[in-house]
Amino acid sequence: MLGAGVLARAGPETIHTIRASVRGLLVQPDTARTKTPAPALTRGILVRMSKNKSNPSHRVPRVAIAIMAAGKGTRLKSKHPKVLHEVGGKPLLAHVIAAATKVVPARDVYAIIGHEAERVREAVAYTGINFILQKEQRGTGHALMVTREALASYDQVIVLSGDAPLISPQTIRKLRDFHNSKHPAMTILTARLYDPTGYGRVIRVSSKNPEVKAIVEEKSATPAQRKIQEINSGFYAFDAELLFAHIDELSNDNPHGEFYLTDMAEILRKAKKSVMAVTASDPHEILGTNTRGEMVDIDQRMRLAKCRQLMAEGVTIFYPQTCVIDGDVEIGPDSTIEPFVQILGKTRIGSDCRIRSYSVINNSVIGDGVLIRPACMIDDAHVMKGAMLGPYSHLRPGSEIGEGAHVGNFVETKKTSLGKGSKANHLSYLGDAEIGEGVNIGAGTITCNYDGERKHTTVIEDAVFIGSDSTLVAPVKVGKGAYVGAASCITDDVPPDSLAIGRARQIVKEGWTKAKRPSRQKL
Ligand code: UD1
Ligand code: CA
Repeated sequence: MLGAGVLARAGPETIHTIRASVRGLLVQPDTARTKTPAPALTRGILVRMSKNKSNPSHRVPRVAIAIMAAGKGTRLKSKHPKVLHEVGGKPLLAHVIAAATKVVPARDVYAIIGHEAERVREAVAYTGINFILQKEQRGTGHALMVTREALASYDQVIVLSGDAPLISPQTIRKLRDFHNSKHPAMTILTARLYDPTGYGRVIRVSSKNPEVKAIVEEKSATPAQRKIQEINSGFYAFDAELLFAHIDELSNDNPHGEFYLTDMAEILRKAKKSVMAVTASDPHEILGTNTRGEMVDIDQRMRLAKCRQLMAEGVTIFYPQTCVIDGDVEIGPDSTIEPFVQILGKTRIGSDCRIRSYSVINNSVIGDGVLIRPACMIDDAHVMKGAMLGPYSHLRPGSEIGEGAHVGNFVETKKTSLGKGSKANHLSYLGDAEIGEGVNIGAGTITCNYDGERKHTTVIEDAVFIGSDSTLVAPVKVGKGAYVGAASCITDDVPPDSLAIGRARQIVKEGWTKAKRPSRQKL
């Protein structure tokens, strides 16, 4: 809080001076730096700062978080960069960035990118973090070598892996705080896994001692070392000065011909610096995603955790193992989600809703008390309270379904508003349409919105009745309270309260069959 306090409490001139003299102090993890002046605490803080000058160990360290995200992900056998593969509905890297930016401000987070760097940068640019290019991917140690220029001015560098998306802000804080309290050159976040296969093993000085001798990669480990269950998470905190002073001592003399960041443990230790291990409270948090199998496991973990969170908030989810609900989804209490439902993106669902099986809802807002019958697809749509959809309704982007409105089976809407209490119950296409309140759209109605070149709007005012199987050729308007006879092709505007019939008059030729085919008489 100290850094925040300095900025918060001093007047503009003081702020300037403080910035210049104790820059390091101002960049403080976990602080929302506000600029609201409030003089009361200024004195105490200044006193504390002058003390800092004489005793630098009390300084609040400047912390950077570097996320290694340049690797290709060979083991995924994919043409897409590894860190853009999705779990829990978001790219792997987006999860790690989200955790990192809860610990330090985005301007102190650096993603090391390389393979398909531009795609990776574009995908997470919205987070406001920094990017460092690792042109050739020559190993995790090399990834940190290229950060020297950007990170050497920090006191501490926390290193995270872009392919381990379950890491929580609490665990990053635990790593940071352990490092700050013991001041080793390197702190390694470790975990004990029942099956440590594939991970680097942590060789401690002795079992209870936090001091670490080395990290041994699986490929280089002896059979005895492979039995060690304490693994390297790939997350570390480094004293920045010592990291960059020794990083060039890494060699690539190993089975992969890569510069391993893990070798820093032994290098620092040999330089008589302290290297320590701190164990993650939840070993699952450090799980990495080198293979598709691991990725699916992590995805399932995230989905189940999300379902548990929603259930704790009052949502019933039947067979949660079968539901796919993205992390940002919100659902109100007493809503029920049936098996095999997908709720994706930033969807918000109100309370007392029922979402029946096989529906897929993406980036949509669903009001309270909405019933979504089986197998509806809803994308970028807004459904107001008490509406009923489905089965088999398809709401495409820009659909707005009014309060208490009904959209039935095999009805497709796009950029269309359907007013309060209006009904389109069967087999229709409603595109680029503005439909008022209390309207009945008969089965098989089609808005012909496309003339081969451009899209046009159909306007249907309140209380209109459109007879079944009508086609409305846009641009066209049906006035308030008008009726359109079944099977009409409406090409001209229909004035309010009138009846429009746009079809050939029925002709009945009595006795025609008899005359034409006398043989039918026998039937
Ligand atoms: C690494 C550790 C291993 C640890 C495991 C935990 C090393 C040598 N090994 O192995 O001890 O148990 O993580 O998950 O560090 N990357 C770059 N640039 C590169 C190479 C990799 O940015 O040149 C990135 C990758 O994109 C990835 C991360 O670094 O996000 C880790 O690399 P990866 O190859 O997955 O390391 P592991 O084999 O999992
Ligand atoms: Ca990995």
